[in-house]
Amino acid sequence: MRCHQLFVLPVLAVGPLGCLAKPFALRLDDMRIKHSWHAVPADWESLGPPLAGTTIDLRIALKPHRENALVNALYEVSTLDHSRYGAHLSQDQVAELVAPHPDTLELVNSWLEYYDVPPSSISTTHGGSWLTVTGVLVSQANGLLGASYELYRHVATNETILRTIGYALPAALQAHVRTVSPTTYFGSPRTSRKALHMRPGGAAEEPVTMLSSRDDPVTVTPSYLRRLYDSESYKPSAMDRNMLGVAGYHGEYPSPADLRLFMENYRTDGVDATYTVERVNGGGYDPSDPGSEANLNVQHTQGIAYPTPHIFYSTGGLPPFTPSNGQPTNDNEPYLDWLGYVLNQPKVPQTISSSYSESEQTVPLDYAKSVCDLFLQLSARGASVLVSSGNWGVGIGDCVVNDGSGKVQFLPTFPSSCPYVTSVGGTMGIPEAAARFSSGGFSNYFKVPPYQREQVSTFIQNLGSQYHGLYNASSRAFPDIAAQAQRFAVSFKGKLYITAGTSCAAPVVAGIVSLLNDFRISQDKPPLGFLNPRLYGDAREGLNDITSGSNPGCGTDGFSAVVGWDPVTGLGTPNFGKLKPILSHVVPIDMG
Ligand SMILES: *[C@@H]1O[C@H](CO)[C@@H](O)[C@H](O)[C@H]1NC(C)=O
Ligand SMILES: *[C@@H]1O[C@H](CO)[C@@H](O)[C@H](O)[C@H]1NC(C)=O
Repeated sequence: MRCHQLFVLPVLAVGPLGCLAKPFALRLDDMRIKHSWHAVPADWESLGPPLAGTTIDLRIALKPHRENALVNALYEVSTLDHSRYGAHLSQDQVAELVAPHPDTLELVNSWLEYYDVPPSSISTTHGGSWLTVTGVLVSQANGLLGASYELYRHVATNETILRTIGYALPAALQAHVRTVSPTTYFGSPRTSRKALHMRPGGAAEEPVTMLSSRDDPVTVTPSYLRRLYDSESYKPSAMDRNMLGVAGYHGEYPSPADLRLFMENYRTDGVDATYTVERVNGGGYDPSDPGSEANLNVQHTQGIAYPTPHIFYSTGGLPPFTPSNGQPTNDNEPYLDWLGYVLNQPKVPQTISSSYSESEQTVPLDYAKSVCDLFLQLSARGASVLVSSGNWGVGIGDCVVNDGSGKVQFLPTFPSSCPYVTSVGGTMGIPEAAARFSSGGFSNYFKVPPYQREQVSTFIQNLGSQYHGLYNASSRAFPDIAAQAQRFAVSFKGKLYITAGTSCAAPVVAGIVSLLNDFRISQDKPPLGFLNPRLYGDAREGLNDITSGSNPGCGTDGFSAVVGWDPVTGLGTPNFGKLKPILSHVVPIDMG
């Protein structure tokens, strides 16, 4: 065996001639690009490098030793006829399955040590699958990652972030490190809803107009939704054990006064509705200065699931280093901050609603896969995670691919494209039809998961050659389910408004799922956990199939809602009355 490393790391120089055959021969001159954009992402501009001495916290996702162990466990505990159905994993069980191989840790630690990163700054996070390295000098990070960190300003909002257009890793680390963050993901919690990333999947589609009267027959309110989805007569009883979580990112939190006003108008039995706030990474909470997105989300989960206890997560992103160039900057990552926090709790809420989505192509592949793996952890812990599909039909704007090729294709959204969440599209009216803005389509990152393969391929067969080349037929398809998404009542700073978007739909489905979880928990059964295997299986019978409407975009008419699954409304909208007996079905535990 030839020994050909140029740099032998000090701790590794333990073999004969300082050369170990494997796996510790780590050449640091052989850097391979991990991810790089062909240009500065749209709407961002460089302000140049930060001041000398600026530091950054790096998070490093490590490859698990047992590659598919957690996915396999997830499918076992969420597939009805499996003997492990409902045996959701504990924090420790997840940690065991996502643990990296000791060689991976050793290699990564040696690499960090070579660049003088003190071991005391390294800790394990995100269920044991990531390392967080605090206080790395930007100059060190540039060396470690072959990167060129600069401050970037978002032109519409002036938000300033520290990122690099590309980064690399030594070839020997490529297979061990899944992603490093923050690097090339330009999303950020600070941007407003009108910005390109972390856009709440709603509230912007229709002008927010004042509501003339609370009796307006076309206004979607809790009583309208509870009648439509047949949950009106159900009385929750597991308030001591059931919990509904609502994710919010920088600057978004609800107001208790607005919640009360909403309930006074639309659900008088629930005027004492309340929620607790968990502040993640310095997230704010000023009840007198709420966000309309957070208000919308909490009002409509409460409107359905009251009196189920609620947690609102206010995820922050305070700059951990001194402002530079007169601009506050941040190196935080909204998904990682929030997922890291929730996964670190001994218990996770049984139902979680998140109304944020963005174009998949603006999320680097390595980062999207690593974040999706964290959603996988959350689902494996027994949470039903509902995310809005987005408001852009089959794609946003002109649908030009951002690789410089000029190619046009349908643009899916993230995190809906992650196979381990339940994506919620939008409908409107009675009888229900697809809402035109309802985002849906096919990932370019994630393969089609087994639970939807059959229904998705039926849709594609019936579609024939239409849109050939505009979408990826071998991929994870979304949404999975849908709910009303237009003319939603919401209260904001003491007034009533109406709004629209799949931001409205995700909280409604979360409310219904939370009631289904309430029923199971009140019977001492485990919560539903990851829903999709059952939605595409026996629970289809409890959904209203939506068969009209479409989601135009990219200069096309988009996909049409059809009988069965479609990439506009998924499998359809929930019928609580039908789902309750189906999803509370008990399977005899196989004692064999
Ligand atoms: C961004 O900064 C420029 C110049 O400093 C200013 O004119 C503009 O109003 C700012 N925009 C926002 C959204 O704060
Ligand atoms: C299509 O999706 C698969 C994952 O399902 C991916 O590997 C492939 O690169 C995608 N193709 C294009 C053209 O993006």
